[in-house]
Amino acid sequence: VTPPVVVLGDEDTDAAIRLDWAGFGEPARGPRLEADRATFEAGRTHGMRDGRELVGVARAWASELSLPGGAGLPAAAVTGVGVRATHRRRGVLRALMTAQLVDVRERGEPLAVLTASEGGIYGRFGYGPATWSRAVALDRHRAALRDPSPPAGRFRSLDADAAARVLPEVHERLRLGRAGEIRRSAGWWGLYLAHLATEEEGGPLWQHVVWEPEEGRPAGCATYRLRERWEAWQPRFELSVSSVAAADSAGRLALWRYLLGVDLVSTVEAQVPVDEPLALALVDPRRLRVTGEGDVLWSRVLDLPRVLEARGYAAEGRLVIEVDDPILPDLGGRFELSVEEGRGACRRIGADPDLTLGAADLGAAVLGGTSLRALAGAGRVAEASPGAAARADRMLAVDPPPYCGTDF
Ligand SMILES: CC(C)(COP(=O)(O)OP(=O)(O)OC[C@H]1O[C@@H](n2cnc3c(N)ncnc32)[C@H](O)[C@@H]1OP(=O)(O)O)[C@@H](O)C(=O)NCCC(=O)NCCS
Repeated sequence: VTPPVVVLGDEDTDAAIRLDWAGFGEPARGPRLEADRATFEAGRTHGMRDGRELVGVARAWASELSLPGGAGLPAAAVTGVGVRATHRRRGVLRALMTAQLVDVRERGEPLAVLTASEGGIYGRFGYGPATWSRAVALDRHRAALRDPSPPAGRFRSLDADAAARVLPEVHERLRLGRAGEIRRSAGWWGLYLAHLATEEEGGPLWQHVVWEPEEGRPAGCATYRLRERWEAWQPRFELSVSSVAAADSAGRLALWRYLLGVDLVSTVEAQVPVDEPLALALVDPRRLRVTGEGDVLWSRVLDLPRVLEARGYAAEGRLVIEVDDPILPDLGGRFELSVEEGRGACRRIGADPDLTLGAADLGAAVLGGTSLRALAGAGRVAEASPGAAARADRMLAVDPPPYCGTDF
């Protein structure tokens, strides 16, 4: 029998942070500790104690998830999940995640999202991998751009203070343009910038650059650092990109031109969306090596009709899906989705389903970034009528594919 889950107050904030960070082997101190305190939202931290000791914690902050078609819906951004190693595998996480989902639902948030430390944890709670990302690397001296002309527009480098003002503004302007991205709270920005500042102690400088197609109109930005390396008098610096984002492909290409032009550099590394066009901008597209691919954002649906009616569609059609929700069973059941003229209508229905799937598969597929056909091929989704999953994929397809550049 596990002790009850409680909602923690301000007095528990530091203990919750220490517990969360201990799971990742990090001491909780310094400016990042202070910044993390500011990410807490009152009443949204669940904890469990053993006697007086806090042994488990999970929290959330109010965000918004960008949907296909350009709308956003409220989403609980789940973070700070940790269970004391002395109390692991006794159901502490299960109790916390369940209490948290009940709370998210009561708040009327139709979605919860998270980024996972391990892929095996959150499916059982109805979360599925909804956005994907690639790690890429490029040998700069061998990777010539097809068009070597200098980038269009102008670049402005930002010091830390200017970055704290400009980057949030740019992200806020861009985020609805890409399904899968989330609204970043002021607390998130504080923690991200404190994280960069901490890494700079004894490490390389993080540099920010903003791209303006016309003066005073920032429409893209990049954050990167150089790692110094010399070999026999030759500079072999590494440039790692923490983020590169722009309102359109012209801006993105301009930022890449800038990044590939930084002097002394021989390798460039970045994480990019699966539709990153950079390879095709090179004389030899193979020079952009994909060094890894993985999930970023896991999504969890708590109000299916609301989500399906807010998102846009690539094809018309009618589909009945049956959802099995292991944590909140009454959220499951049969739903009809009909799409006409790009708009979806969704209601509960008694009819036989075309597709039967679990809440985690629904979470994975709902943004159009994880294929139902692939989920059916993996034996996770059952098709009552042949071709139903492919038909659903055509309806749910989104261009560009969903991407989340926000780690939280
Ligand atoms: C991951 C963590 C939170 C799990 O907490 P826990 O209290 O041990 O988990 P529970 O006992 O409640 O387990 C619930 C279920 O998840 C499973 N599970 C727990 N951790 C898992 C993991 N790392 N991988 C796969 N399954 C896991 C359990 O087997 C159990 O399965 P079942 O109930 O379906 O049979 C904890 O190990 C931890 O703090 N790890 C280090 C920090 C971390 O990774 N935090 C997550 C940040 S995203």
